[in-house]
Amino acid sequence: MTLELSKSSLKKELYLGLQQCRAQTLALFEDMDEATFKNQAHPDFSPVGWHLGHIAYTESLWLLEHSTAKSSLFGQYRKLFAADGLPKSERVQLPKLAEILDSLNAVRRQVLEYLEVADLDKQERLWRFLLQHESQHCEIVSFVLELASSKKGLEYCPLPLPLSSSPISEMLQIPAGEFQMGSDSIDALDNEKPRHKVYLDTYYIDRYPVTCGQYRVFMDAGGYEQPDFWSPSGWEWLQTERVKKPLYWHDAPAWDNHPVCGVSWYEAEAYARFVGKRLPTEAEWEKAASWDSQDHHSRIYPWGDKEPIDKYCNCAALGKGLMSKTTPVDAYPNGQSAYGLYDALGNVWEWTASWFNGYPGFQSYPYVGYSQVYFDGQHRILKGGSWVTRGWALRSSFRNWYYPEVRQLFAGFRCAASKDESRNGWSWLRTT
Ligand code: AVJ
Ligand code: FE
Repeated sequence: MTLELSKSSLKKELYLGLQQCRAQTLALFEDMDEATFKNQAHPDFSPVGWHLGHIAYTESLWLLEHSTAKSSLFGQYRKLFAADGLPKSERVQLPKLAEILDSLNAVRRQVLEYLEVADLDKQERLWRFLLQHESQHCEIVSFVLELASSKKGLEYCPLPLPLSSSPISEMLQIPAGEFQMGSDSIDALDNEKPRHKVYLDTYYIDRYPVTCGQYRVFMDAGGYEQPDFWSPSGWEWLQTERVKKPLYWHDAPAWDNHPVCGVSWYEAEAYARFVGKRLPTEAEWEKAASWDSQDHHSRIYPWGDKEPIDKYCNCAALGKGLMSKTTPVDAYPNGQSAYGLYDALGNVWEWTASWFNGYPGFQSYPYVGYSQVYFDGQHRILKGGSWVTRGWALRSSFRNWYYPEVRQLFAGFRCAASKDESRNGWSWLRTT
């Protein structure tokens, strides 16, 4: 279908974005069998097929129903695909993949027609929200598929490793001062706004995410058996879950410089205590990733303002193979932040010490259920995105949130320390 788009370059950009994002979505579902489509791989997550219907439903709701006189293409499925319609366990009764694809295409055809006439002065934010909404749901689809296919039951067994192979552990000193946190850009989701000044004392932050090689030391030291390293709630979680290694653990030295992936917030916290550090607050993470103290401004991405491509980070960049994985934490020197932080965007999400909240002056958009209902003191913030995060949802101000016990997403972490916690004996300290 060729559309006669108006001369607006913004419309062309959105048109292209919608098409590229959708092509990546469709690739995820290519050749999928019906059983995989409607299977609920884990009680906390919907079947992957539900996400596809929900993407179409949400696009139809906001761009067709709310914005035009068109009636919903989703009459009979409204309850099924609405975010607040049915419990996840009841989302297995799905129409066939082909039928949902038909709806998806039908909605999209009308949406692209509407784009021709839409008033983007008023609506640009909504269109950009929807690109990010689709990206986020597809991230969930990606890890739920990984979850369903990953081989279970491979027990961790310690490898005899020479000390010289112990990976990079270096910390950056971030000098005291103010920085700009959050974003007021047209892309920004409600929870990133408004941008505001935050003062932080001098602190230290790991230059790289914690690697599998580093985490192995924790496991070999009895990390999963020693209550000393765990907070009371973390230890309680561990007693119930009885896990002994990260969910996506690869037990081979070849993975030693890859980030740990598939840990709960509790495991991240325990590791940090094991090495005498702590998790960074969200502000500490964001300042290290985005603040350019020379130019006195926050960069959109650690490397600057050029959009994420293969050169800068391990994300779901356009045209990149879908079955890729994590990469070594030092694989992207071009992606360093002004302070020299590596691997902040892409590769794995990073748990922070902060609870998800609204910034002062928060206003929900486009609906209260997007962020605000999660300001409940029970969700921890993750930053940075993973190797399956698409460019539309990848930036230093972006905020993700999950319960601390969730380990299904592609998440790891890095550690931090305060100035008064630093000791001269820290061999990993790098002061510039
Ligand atoms: C930000 C990933 C936690 O899955 O609930 C999608 C994203 N919100 N549709 C979620 C979201 C509404 C959200 N997370
Ligand atoms: Fe949604």
